[in-house]
Amino acid sequence: MTREELTSELATVAASLRAHLEWQEETGAFGIPRGPSPAPRAASVADAVAPIEKSSFENASPESAPFKRVGGNAPSPATIEAPRARKTEPVDRAAALARLPQLAQEVAACTKCILHETRKQTVFSRGNPEARLVFIGEAPGADEDAEGIPFVGRAGQLLDKMIAAMGLSPEKDVYVCNIIKCRPPGNRRPEQEETDSCIPYLHEQLAAVAPKVIVALGNTAVGTLLGTKMGITKIRGQWKTYRGSTLVMPTYHPSYLLRPSPQQIQAKREAWEDLQAVMKELGLALPKKRS
Ligand code: URA
Repeated sequence: MTREELTSELATVAASLRAHLEWQEETGAFGIPRGPSPAPRAASVADAVAPIEKSSFENASPESAPFKRVGGNAPSPATIEAPRARKTEPVDRAAALARLPQLAQEVAACTKCILHETRKQTVFSRGNPEARLVFIGEAPGADEDAEGIPFVGRAGQLLDKMIAAMGLSPEKDVYVCNIIKCRPPGNRRPEQEETDSCIPYLHEQLAAVAPKVIVALGNTAVGTLLGTKMGITKIRGQWKTYRGSTLVMPTYHPSYLLRPSPQQIQAKREAWEDLQAVMKELGLALPKKRS
């Protein structure tokens, strides 16, 4: 390794540690990830999946640009085993991955809904299309529309802190995208017809990336992926499945976590619990609890 490479590596580690500590300070979750991670859980607990897991898309039928820059008394999600996912139909994953740049170009040329009239550009994804973990948000905002990359604004900065706190690199270890690829004017919520016309792109992305776990951020992502109207405060922290085969952890959207109110302190703690459940599922080292 050259001196420059070493310096850059150290800078990355320092930035990641700083982000980790900032997130910990905000969530009250202290400690640094422990040594080697425990083996992923053994037994299947399919009962941990609540009954709404059937997605409305269940029967429905990238990466070009590099990334530049239960409610009630239920046990905490970190203590619940994730359900065993069903096997998916075989997909030629290599071919699907190789098609992602082409798919991104198709998205860039898309005029299927009215949003193409007001967008500056489409926003396809960032991160590693071969990652085991995918984060899905709602739709690009103004910053993303300007840069053509998802989650580059304030919410994205918080998302990156959350990812770094998991001990992961936002560039190498995760794939980040949205339910829809164009910015709705004024950052309004996407209309149903906009989601309906855009969602096949996401299905194709997910079939190619084939993640082990999806973190669905906020109501739109959760509602669309899982076909539920259940609000995020009720559903967060409960393992679900996408198309019966990929684990989904619903949690709060970083934009919600950024709102300055006392509720957000609790919400950040809950989001961190949800992410720890994901870490456990992926066999990642969990931070040591402060005694
Ligand atoms: N919010 C989202 O849901 N997605 C983005 O890309 C940015 C903000």
